[in-house]
Amino acid sequence: MEIALENVWHSYDGETYVLRNISLRFRSPGTYLLIGPNGAGKTTLLKIVSFIIRPSRGRVLVDGASFWDLDNASRDSIRGSIVYVHDKPILVRGTVKFNVELGLRLKKRVDESIVEYYITRYGLKELENKSVNRLSAGQAKTVSIVRALVTEPTVLVLDEPFTYLDSTRSTLLIEDIMRIVRERGGMVLIATHYMYRELKALATEFVEIVNGEISSHAKNVFANS
Ligand SMILES: Nc1ncnc2c1ncn2[C@@H]1O[C@H](COP(=O)(O)OP(=O)(O)OP(=O)(O)O)[C@@H](O)[C@H]1O
Ligand SMILES: [Mg+2]
Repeated sequence: MEIALENVWHSYDGETYVLRNISLRFRSPGTYLLIGPNGAGKTTLLKIVSFIIRPSRGRVLVDGASFWDLDNASRDSIRGSIVYVHDKPILVRGTVKFNVELGLRLKKRVDESIVEYYITRYGLKELENKSVNRLSAGQAKTVSIVRALVTEPTVLVLDEPFTYLDSTRSTLLIEDIMRIVRERGGMVLIATHYMYRELKALATEFVEIVNGEISSHAKNVFANS
């Protein structure tokens, strides 16, 4: 898949633009890191790339087609192929296991072996029957990430995935990101304030946003993904 932003501007209030004239291209396979200070516009950009927000101006192209000009059925089908993990975990009332299986249930394919694999891998086994409103911040964040991973996405968008995660779980996640890109030819977009060495090595491109504009854009010619 290729998602391209062409001269994208966005304003939430119709007065101030929080993104200004952004043109970027994201391709599979690839790992894209979005960096920049608080309030720079990273989350807004990720939501535009994931078709959660319609930009005020400019075009968003999916494999050359202008997303917002497509019919509803085509939009839904494209949206269905993108998995977005919010910075603040959004969990529904119920157990850890129920939440982890949620995305799969919506796609009508619960694969117990994959669920088991990721629940165990991320240390959630002892917590699987616990209600999510009794979790620590890092445990809740882990549940929201595992819920995305079990769907085996080929386009995964992660907003601040490492916030609250300990180093063990962060390392596991970086490995899983690498597998999505290398083994499945997928695309992973990550907004992060944490720049782990392994993550940096994996990234194909770095985009730095400052005050709603691209302040630097670098390709990693040594990317190992
Ligand atoms: N729902 C909203 N309504 C109005 N303004 C918003 C909304 N969401 C974000 N903003 C504003 O848009 C700008 C960009 O916010 P955004 O969340 O995209 O930044 P960010 O780079 O993700 O920051 P952080 O590193 O803190 O997550 C900020 O000035 C913010 O106040
Ligand atoms: Mg943000």
